[in-house]
Amino acid sequence: MKITVDGQARNLQAVWFENNSVRMIDQRKLPENVEIFDAKNSKDIAFAIKDMVVRGAPAIGVAAAYGLAMAKENGEVMEDAVNLIKNTRPTAYDLFKAIKYMTANKYAMSSARRYATELSGRCKKIGEYGNSLISQDSRILTHCNAGALAVLDWGTALAPMRMAKISGKNIFVFVDETRPRLQGARLTAWELLQENIDHAIIADNAAGYYMHNKEVDLAIVGADRIASNGDFANKIGTYEKAVLAKENNVPFYVAAPGSTFDFSMKSGDEIVVEQRGEEEVKKIGETSIGPKESHAKNPAFDVTPARYVTAFITEYGIFRPEELGSLKALMDKDLFMRES
Ligand code: MRU
Repeated sequence: MKITVDGQARNLQAVWFENNSVRMIDQRKLPENVEIFDAKNSKDIAFAIKDMVVRGAPAIGVAAAYGLAMAKENGEVMEDAVNLIKNTRPTAYDLFKAIKYMTANKYAMSSARRYATELSGRCKKIGEYGNSLISQDSRILTHCNAGALAVLDWGTALAPMRMAKISGKNIFVFVDETRPRLQGARLTAWELLQENIDHAIIADNAAGYYMHNKEVDLAIVGADRIASNGDFANKIGTYEKAVLAKENNVPFYVAAPGSTFDFSMKSGDEIVVEQRGEEEVKKIGETSIGPKESHAKNPAFDVTPARYVTAFITEYGIFRPEELGSLKALMDKDLFMRES
């Protein structure tokens, strides 16, 4: 991803391996500061995933893949390294997919690099397919951050928007702020600025207003885990956006690579939703926004039933929920997907 830091153009990925460290853009510090976090062992990787230095389903998978390869090169006990990394965040399927892939490939660094390169290439394809759904002057709503920061480059939900921009279309993006961690306001808006894509941050509870006023042509979001029937988990708040979209006849698309589809799950009822600490809700940055004595609840994701999804945009093409059987057949023939 090309970014400008202090007026200087730089080409960075969300996660990479260099000088015996897994390096990542510290997403806790954006948009104010572009800082690099260095993980030197599996404990650092587990911390980085749990504390959301790195976040977004595919990027978590890539961090885990490099982390396991680094642990192997450093002579760590691999069973311990795997367990540490596995027990960080339960919802995003990519984490478990990456661990399986690395275990099947004996934790080789070359496999971690291949995993990373594959994912970024696949997201570019998502961009190409998704661009076909975007018209000149489309107004698109997105939730959370499913951009290059959440993958390596391109992103999932943001890939079609980047491709649309590259192909000369003017578009406008409504960016849900995405409480409590503000991934929309802090990360998606920052990425769209870097890409010179016109956008506005909206409060999470404003999406219905714009949909009802016929100002949103389509919604595109990412996913953390997609079950066989098309129910999917994504950042908390996605479900209500999907219901609002159906109510207002706004097409609702989910962009995700094959690594996010968990065909072992029949439906979204089986998806484990991560519950995070109450401080994330009670504070914005260091500022408390409620009485210290009040408790808060903080589910990190929700599950949207398949009936609200117009289609899934993948690297294999675009599939309606009832067509996921054909997607599975294509994935079964794909060596990279079969390896994990
Ligand atoms: O808690 P996060 O920030 O890791 O949640 C991220 C999301 O919900 C994204 O939409 C999803 O991982 C898709 S990223 C391409």
